[in-house]
Amino acid sequence: MSDLFSKFDPVIEQRETLLESGITDPFNLVMERVESPTVAICNGRRTILLGTYNYMGMTFDPDVVAAGKQALDDFGSGTTGSRVLNGTYVGHKAVEQALKDFYAMDHAMVFSTGYQANLGIISTIAGKDDYVVLDIDSHASIYDGCAMGNAQIVPFRHNDIEALEKRLKRIPEGAGKLVVLEGVYSMLGDIAPLREMIAVCKANGAMVLVDEAHSMGFIGEHGRGVAEAQGVIDDVDFIIGTFSKSVGTVGGFCVSNHPKFEILRLVCRPYVFTASLPPSVVATAATSIRKLMDSADKRAHLWENSKRLHAGLRQLGFTLGTQEPQSAIIAVIMPDLEKGAAMWEALLNEGLYVNLARPPATPAGMTLLRCSLCALHTEDQVGEILGMFAAAGRATGCIS
Ligand SMILES: Cc1ncc(COP(=O)(O)O)c(C=O)c1O
Repeated sequence: MSDLFSKFDPVIEQRETLLESGITDPFNLVMERVESPTVAICNGRRTILLGTYNYMGMTFDPDVVAAGKQALDDFGSGTTGSRVLNGTYVGHKAVEQALKDFYAMDHAMVFSTGYQANLGIISTIAGKDDYVVLDIDSHASIYDGCAMGNAQIVPFRHNDIEALEKRLKRIPEGAGKLVVLEGVYSMLGDIAPLREMIAVCKANGAMVLVDEAHSMGFIGEHGRGVAEAQGVIDDVDFIIGTFSKSVGTVGGFCVSNHPKFEILRLVCRPYVFTASLPPSVVATAATSIRKLMDSADKRAHLWENSKRLHAGLRQLGFTLGTQEPQSAIIAVIMPDLEKGAAMWEALLNEGLYVNLARPPATPAGMTLLRCSLCALHTEDQVGEILGMFAAAGRATGCIS
């Protein structure tokens, strides 16, 4: 009998080598208690959180928490059914209305995760004879959506407008074309040149889907994302988003003005063949989304945090993923996995949690320490974080 697990041997070996060096497992951290969006207790000690996607700090918002508790009391712990059977409660309609209001769009469809939103929308609208042109650094859920729909995948070099145009021009006349872009690319924290790219898409007859998972709530005048910030949101056919980042809970969605959008509720398998979100989750999401509409001060403070951390880390001598801060994600580039893991552990020992990211999730085989800021990090906390980076960087030889 052949062992179906033998394909994992290289990963097992890499993991064992890393753990044999005595390092704490960077992919197995337990939060023993979470005190706020920015502080948790890990290994018995106070730890500043700089690796969550809690950009707008909504997880402990009193109104959000109260809405969840009320829904739990009123509607119970779960729906036990698909949205198209017994799984649509008033709360699901309310969160879809909140999304339509937030984005000023005609339609909103909520999925159980952002992963399923990409999987469902892409696989349903782009089938076997259609072409999906996508940035090579696209999230796994985008690739998986293309694979599930059996579409022809045409990748182009990251953020390269000319490469996108060339790929589009090579697609046979009359074929269905979907271009998939992200507002913020989560590994390096860089943004897409959506204005130019969307113009190219429209000139070449392609529909456009933009995943704004890492920009919702923060980027753009109303927090609608990079497409809003660059003035092209009206040209986007589908926006994908998630509740697991700025919204502060779990779930995913697609918003659109397409006149036939509602038919997707009957033909999209990752929407139909799974249970809907629990009432408490949709109640927290709806409350959070409505509060995010009115969060200009928090957005401004988050930009300040991002600029302060970026400048401070550069000054310490770290190599960063972007020349200027472009989002709430600041990526620190490490020379290799061993150094990255050592630095990650040293930071944890200092009392700071960041994300260690490595291939295949990262572009160009990079090992990254990804820092994601929260609107509730104080100026003092950012100062503390920089002190920890200085100490850990010197202890591991990452900076001199
Ligand atoms: C760009 C992008 N799209 C989609 C997702 C999936 O979101 P969710 O956590 O809701 O499944 C992520 C998650 O990290 C993401 O980064």
